[in-house]
Amino acid sequence: MEIGQVIGTTSLRTFRFVIKEGAEKHVKRDEFVSVRESVTGREILGIVKDIVTSNELLPDEFGRDMRLGDIILNEGEYPVPIVKILGYEGENGLEIPRYGIKPGAVVELTNDETLRRILEQDAAKSAYIGTISTRASIPVSLSLNDLISRHCAVLAMTGAGKSYTVGVIIEEIMKKHGSIVVFDPHGEYRGMAVNDSDSCIYSIEGDNRIKIAVRSLHTGDFANLIPDLTDPQRDLLDELLNMISRFYEEYDLSVLTKVLSELYDVKKASDKTDGQFPSDILSSIARKVGLATIGALMRRVGRLENMGLFDAKGMPLEAIIRRNQLTIMDLSEADERLSETVVVAMCRRIFNARKSHEKKGGSSVPTFLIVEEAHNFAPRGVEDRVVMSRAILRKIAREGRKFGVGLCIVSQRPNKLDADVLSQCNTQIIMKIVNPSDQEYIRQSVETVTEDIVRDLPSLSRGEAIVVGSAIRMPVPVKIRMRETTVGGEDIDIVGAWNSD
Ligand SMILES: Nc1ncnc2c1ncn2[C@@H]1O[C@H](COP(=O)(O)OP(=O)(O)O)[C@@H](O)[C@H]1O
Ligand SMILES: [Mg+2]
Repeated sequence: MEIGQVIGTTSLRTFRFVIKEGAEKHVKRDEFVSVRESVTGREILGIVKDIVTSNELLPDEFGRDMRLGDIILNEGEYPVPIVKILGYEGENGLEIPRYGIKPGAVVELTNDETLRRILEQDAAKSAYIGTISTRASIPVSLSLNDLISRHCAVLAMTGAGKSYTVGVIIEEIMKKHGSIVVFDPHGEYRGMAVNDSDSCIYSIEGDNRIKIAVRSLHTGDFANLIPDLTDPQRDLLDELLNMISRFYEEYDLSVLTKVLSELYDVKKASDKTDGQFPSDILSSIARKVGLATIGALMRRVGRLENMGLFDAKGMPLEAIIRRNQLTIMDLSEADERLSETVVVAMCRRIFNARKSHEKKGGSSVPTFLIVEEAHNFAPRGVEDRVVMSRAILRKIAREGRKFGVGLCIVSQRPNKLDADVLSQCNTQIIMKIVNPSDQEYIRQSVETVTEDIVRDLPSLSRGEAIVVGSAIRMPVPVKIRMRETTVGGEDIDIVGAWNSD
């Protein structure tokens, strides 16, 4: 459908046009329009990014003291849509045109069929997430292989619909019998576990507890878990863990407690010989530490033991990653340190299992890791405390693609996210963001997010997203589809709760 004609100066990135009479209602922000390239005649797609309206009867200089009188204002009015050029259909999605667009060229509304064709994905390997905001009849799907192997980020201010959107993606992946692990700090994904056979929920308390193999924890992880660990205690712990791992493949915290108590005895009475560990090693360690340090470390290890989360083997790998399984790590009862430890231990385990997938203890199942509140686990610039989870998330962001470990980071504080992790996310689902420093940071860190995209972010409504990057052929504003499973983390009707009896 013809809607106007190009006016003014054009470039390879943008043009403006006048709207044909009667076509006004079709020309709105985010609408797709097409023109022909001057030399090749190829159809070039663009998207309306702005509409400026001026009236020659009411110029800027129009004195404020003048009265309008009876003039017919419509006569002199020109709404001028400003179009950002997206490109023409090439082999691999849209390509920036090589030849210019002639002023005077006819502007048409892009056909539904054209948009459908460009956005089309293999249904067996894609996730249907919604429709184009301005065209409810055109589905938007994401290529799952790209989305997962090249990582993605879901960014928006709180309440914009991040978790809801992630839920939609989870539903789609489960339809493809995928393997997903969600780190869920607010316990809001429980409702997604519809089917017992294909979902598992683990938590910090209760029956289905998260279990972490002690052997998989580094000294730094212990230091992170035990906030009041002193340097001498840390050194002692480091030495003991080293010693134990020479005697045991797998061990739980009771072994550490046992060593500590033998060490305590050795330190107290140097003639002790009937322990489980060689007394010469223990004596040499005992010489370096004070009795108080040993006692204090024993109490701290005892505290960890009481949590009931650490054992010799950890959870079986199949309990975490398996085809057709959604695994939810509910961290709502865990504090920040414990949550971080769970993320570190699980991510490390999964990454290593995939890295050595052909060997014993490896896994043949590619998997998708979803990290909510990702700014807590991969924070930017916090150097005072070694952030162990950031290290493993960086590693997965960098190398996960080779081993079939995908990462989805979800955050309402993009500005607080580690730039390495963020820039490795090749698909971005961005929803309403008002904070200028968050906008600016995303623009700087993510190649595909351009100035004009950032400018649109404050005006998005709940459930609306702009999707850019490798899982989609062109950036599109999307209205995210309705969920099929139960939604968690709903807004609370506060006034309603006060007034109900
Ligand atoms: N696409 C959508 N359709 C319908 N409701 C939505 C949609 N996206 C979000 N919501 C609702 O908006 C509220 C906030 O969404 P949520 O995903 O929890 O936001 P966020 O995770 O960004 O803080 C929830 O009540 C959710 O049900
Ligand atoms: Mg959320």
